[in-house]
Amino acid sequence: MTATEPAATGRPSPKRLHVITWGCQMNVYDSGRMAEVLAPLGYAPAPQPDGADMVILNTCHIREKAAEKVFSELGRLRLLQRQREAEGGRMVLAVAGCVAQAEGAEILARAPFVDIVLGPQSYHRLPEMVARAARAGGAVVETAFPAESKFDFLPEQRSPGGVTAFLTIQEGCDKFCSFCVVPYTRGAEASRPAGAILAEARRLVAAGAREITLLGQNVNAWHGEGLDGRTWRLGRLIRAIAALPGLLRIRYTTSHPSDMDAELIAAHADIPALMPFLHLPVQSGSDRVLAAMNRRHAVADFRRIVDALRRARPDIALSSDFIVGHPGETAADFGDTLGLVEAVGFAQAFSFKYSPRPGTPAAGAPGAVPEAEKDARLQALQALLRAQQAAFNRGMEGLTLPVLVTGPGRRFGQIAGRSPYLQPVHLLGPATLAGAVVPVKIAAGNPNSLSGILATTPAWELACA
Ligand code: SAH
Ligand code: SF4
Ligand code: F3S
Repeated sequence: MTATEPAATGRPSPKRLHVITWGCQMNVYDSGRMAEVLAPLGYAPAPQPDGADMVILNTCHIREKAAEKVFSELGRLRLLQRQREAEGGRMVLAVAGCVAQAEGAEILARAPFVDIVLGPQSYHRLPEMVARAARAGGAVVETAFPAESKFDFLPEQRSPGGVTAFLTIQEGCDKFCSFCVVPYTRGAEASRPAGAILAEARRLVAAGAREITLLGQNVNAWHGEGLDGRTWRLGRLIRAIAALPGLLRIRYTTSHPSDMDAELIAAHADIPALMPFLHLPVQSGSDRVLAAMNRRHAVADFRRIVDALRRARPDIALSSDFIVGHPGETAADFGDTLGLVEAVGFAQAFSFKYSPRPGTPAAGAPGAVPEAEKDARLQALQALLRAQQAAFNRGMEGLTLPVLVTGPGRRFGQIAGRSPYLQPVHLLGPATLAGAVVPVKIAAGNPNSLSGILATTPAWELACA
């Protein structure tokens, strides 16, 4: 008897929940938590939306394209919802995430078949909203910023995850960069207390996590109640998490340059579990543009932070985000961005064309850059970043790296893992190594991944000899 058969035990068969996740890692974390909060209601994860009892679309509002694709996906889901109705069933359709927060009930005007619209701070209210949606004829909308923190009401138990796990420690943003919707969609900065974070980290490790990535829209602005009752900052929190037995690796993302304090930089020097790879968005290499962006740091500040990080941890590799074509960006400003990239050297980076977002200060600013010019700048920047990434990966050839094995690889007999610098690594080996850090001699540094061979003879091979 399987769990899905309508049992002679009288237990109802589980309802099928399909979650579609777009956007940043915080949405990935949130999607997991939404599934957990619905589990006591009998919802079990379904890999496909076809025939599901509930579909959650967890959305992103960061650029126009991201927001627009919500409605085309909803059109596709409407067909499946109709099909389900024709079979005498019901598919509850929920729109969550940053588009839900930004557009609220307006989503219903364009997609009246949506049952639930809920913003990122309301996920703990999902069970009650599902019950209301089942009763009510109309849709249920929840996009206020509730007084209570969702973390105090979400279930403690985390479903068994993989070897790597996300843990949200901070939400929201008070920085108000000219171009960005996040302060409006995620609200003001809020930090979870250290005790709650450590308890969740312990549960993740008990469920098999060996690497935890601490998440926040502005993760290094985290300042929460410490275990000693005093306010801790991120460096102190990482020290406490690093002491958890069984946890091998820690990362944090996304950071703002102006919140990289001395304690956090020192953590990179003396906490071996803190991986030597940091995503530190700079956005532009021009002080004029950084000021227009309201970034609160100059190019020299960024350079100083990078130097301090490299002194603390000489092998640290950097990643960043860039925007080209912010209103007012001249060809000379863009040249300064290329110059900064040349001078710093990035192992990896994301770059975007500026996308005007309604309600943000830059959206109405003068000096719009023509689309063709944005395209040309993006291509030039990406060519340089790609070349740096390729060179960084090639530079790994011949080295032996500690690789955290995350699970089976794509091909037969292959396993997959991650290097300290977050590069995907493919090698031959037994899947039983999942969760272990093994030495891997890198044979090929490809543009987007590494491949290599186990540098020691593992016990399984000795046993077979
Ligand atoms: N909290 C993070 C990242 C937020 S969004 C930080 O402060 O860096 C991720 C990236 O999307 C940003 O770093 C920025 O490069 C990009 N982005 C944000 N708004 C954008 C917009 N309106 N147009 C183009 N790119 C944008
Ligand atoms: Fe957006 Fe700026 Fe806040 Fe990052 S720091 S989330 S780019 S407003
Ligand atoms: Fe997108 Fe919201 Fe994350 S706008 S990037 S899902 S915080």
